[in-house]
Amino acid sequence: MNNLNDQFEEFIKNLQKEIDEEESKIFSRRVIELSHNPKNWGKMENPTVEDKFLGPCGDTMQFFLKINKKENIIEKITFVTDGCGPSVASGSQLTIMAENKSIEETLKITPDDILKVLEGLPSSHTHCPVLAINTLQKVLKKYLESKK
Ligand code: FES
Repeated sequence: MNNLNDQFEEFIKNLQKEIDEEESKIFSRRVIELSHNPKNWGKMENPTVEDKFLGPCGDTMQFFLKINKKENIIEKITFVTDGCGPSVASGSQLTIMAENKSIEETLKITPDDILKVLEGLPSSHTHCPVLAINTLQKVLKKYLESKK
């Protein structure tokens, strides 16, 4: 019995190793790191503003922002997504880029800026940073509208 368990564990270990090797052929180390261990992941209690956006691929992303209203600075930002690994990496990278930035500066961040830091993505995943940018822009515009 134990022998069977050992064999199974060995099989799983080897399978995981193969998957990791395949993954590293397709994605940069930064993408793998952030998709396995995303920074600023999760929902936020009492955000200043939050919203969700549905991308054309059917995946959604949601950002939660704590905004310093006097200075128009994003003091804290978190996100969740039901999308793929690259969308997790893109959302996470965008939170890192937006934290402590002004709303104005953040609105200037483009999908290409994210792609550059992530060291590229396969063409089947270049829409993932677009989902992140579109979602955050929607949230920021919602906030700016609410101030009018
Ligand atoms: Fe939909 Fe990546 S495949 S966001």
